[in-house]
Amino acid sequence: MEQQGKIALVTGAGQGIGRACAVGLAREGADVAINDLREERALAVAEEVRTLGRRAIAVTADVADEGQVQAMVTRIVAELGGLDILVNNAGFGRPLLVEDMSHAEWDRIVDVNLGGTFNCARAAIRPMRARGGGRIVNIASLAAKRMSYFGGADYTASKAGVLGFTRHLAFELARDRITVNAVCPGLTVTPLAESAARPGELELLAKRIPLGRLVLPEHIADAVLFYCSPRAEMVTGTSLDVDGGISLGMQDMEAYFAARRRG
Ligand SMILES: NC(=O)c1ccc[n+]([C@@H]2O[C@H](COP(=O)([O-])OP(=O)(O)OC[C@H]3O[C@@H](n4cnc5c(N)ncnc54)[C@H](O)[C@@H]3O)[C@@H](O)[C@H]2O)c1
Repeated sequence: MEQQGKIALVTGAGQGIGRACAVGLAREGADVAINDLREERALAVAEEVRTLGRRAIAVTADVADEGQVQAMVTRIVAELGGLDILVNNAGFGRPLLVEDMSHAEWDRIVDVNLGGTFNCARAAIRPMRARGGGRIVNIASLAAKRMSYFGGADYTASKAGVLGFTRHLAFELARDRITVNAVCPGLTVTPLAESAARPGELELLAKRIPLGRLVLPEHIADAVLFYCSPRAEMVTGTSLDVDGGISLGMQDMEAYFAARRRG
């Protein structure tokens, strides 16, 4: 129970990766604030956390709105007693080509994925400092280092921004004993990925992953739990790829080994 007595906020925690992070933190003993745009999703996950014996509140807010984010953090501190852990997970993408993308569509992606990360991190600093330290984990994407599969160039750019923000903020907050790190998921089976994929596409993609299967939300949550654990006390400004090895770049394992067997 590494997180006993800790208070966490997970954004976009109503389903997918965020839900897995919230449940994982609760299993380790943390009380959790469940944020989502969709109230019914946040309420359901808060109930799930309570069944694990932890305190939970559902907070509906748009992370892109700084007023809503400040009100959310104020409420968490008032109702749960502080804030030790922030998982900036809320984000989305869709496959638009740049030439078909309006500036307003670009802005919304950047406002949620990058601006939301900024809004929540900024609001969390004072409460974390008041507790003598804290952990911020930003969910970026493999797209931050390469390019997005289901999202557009706006998504790729916003996630690259999340990694830059992670490094810089890690330096700013180091003396406050607040660590800031990022997790870069490869394609992960969540409602977001399932709704974007064509029939059979996820199975096809799984065959190209060296470890032989698609990443699950719980795999991402495990990386987040590491960054929040005492074992990551001296780790800040870093990112961890959780992608089954796809970023190694060799897409066809059969052909790779067949070529070596021929030799
Ligand atoms: N699924 C993947 O393959 C994948 C890969 C790399 C990175 N990611 C990143 O992981 C994070 C979670 O992705 P997921 O696949 O679990 O998505 P998801 O769509 O399944 O869940 C995201 C949740 O965030 C909420 N949300 C969206 N915008 C919000 C906002 N402005 N304010 C508050 N809540 C908001 C949604 O209502 C939803 O419940 C995202 O940042 C995404 O970019 C996902």
